[in-house]
Amino acid sequence: MGFTAARPLCHGRQVGEAGSAKAPKTRMSAIVQFENVGLRYGLDSETLSDVSFSLASGGFYFLTGASGAGKTSLLKLLYLAQRPSRGVIRLFGEDVVTLPRKRLPGFRRRIGVVFQDFRLVPHLSVYDNIALPLRVAGMEEAEIDAPVSEMLNWVGLGDRGQARPATLSGGEQQRVAIARAVIGRPEILVADEPTGNVDADMARRLLTLFEALNRLGTTIVVATHDLPLIAQVGSAQMMKLDKGRLSDPTGSLRYPPRPPGAG
Ligand SMILES: Nc1ncnc2c1ncn2[C@@H]1O[C@H](COP(=O)(O)OP(=O)(O)O)[C@@H](O)[C@H]1O
Ligand SMILES: [Mg+2]
Repeated sequence: MGFTAARPLCHGRQVGEAGSAKAPKTRMSAIVQFENVGLRYGLDSETLSDVSFSLASGGFYFLTGASGAGKTSLLKLLYLAQRPSRGVIRLFGEDVVTLPRKRLPGFRRRIGVVFQDFRLVPHLSVYDNIALPLRVAGMEEAEIDAPVSEMLNWVGLGDRGQARPATLSGGEQQRVAIARAVIGRPEILVADEPTGNVDADMARRLLTLFEALNRLGTTIVVATHDLPLIAQVGSAQMMKLDKGRLSDPTGSLRYPPRPPGAG
């Protein structure tokens, strides 16, 4: 599918890059670490309590739990749209809770986000929606066409570049949203119920895109309560939230379950 040709977009952030004496020799093992994280909105009781887990670089994770369990809240902490009320959050090995505000955009660019309701810019074409992160990052116009065209093809929308989002089906809009989320080659891709507004066939196709990205090394975190979808990714690990608490704090629950000792 040629997606790897977009590598120049990685902005030199690839872990363990060959030929650089300064690049770390070992792969970062934990790309995300939460320690006793709590989140309280206003004066309400805690929405998230004592949340501790760590995610391995290159892993594929599902976050499940009933509606209202706190999935979206946890993801917002992860993609730095929300600060915790207590606890420690480390991304890429750095404490992001005490991070100076001016360093936040640099971290946010390393995380791609896909929303259930797509959040495309309605007055921009599909092409311009996908190009947006590159333009915001200040990339030259001349360098934008190749990666955007490639992303359009990768998500199967090569002939829809000039369409407005409103003229696309839900599944097509979600593929535009995925293309926009990954065009900057983020190290982590976070998706909040990305299949909630598409049919089962399209959900499987979207998941195939996530798996392809994961094979290229992107850490994937998908919130969903779609259990058949989870069963599709044999190598994924599952985290479950129950009323704001992780029922498996080590993040070691697997779906489908594996025999003991199988890793
Ligand atoms: N911005 C907010 N302000 C106040 N309460 C919120 C806010 N966002 C979420 N909540 C509350 O936090 C709880 C968890 O919500 P959410 O994280 O959206 O769960 P989920 O994604 O699992 O459905 C719910 O009780 C919800 O009403
Ligand atoms: Mg939610």
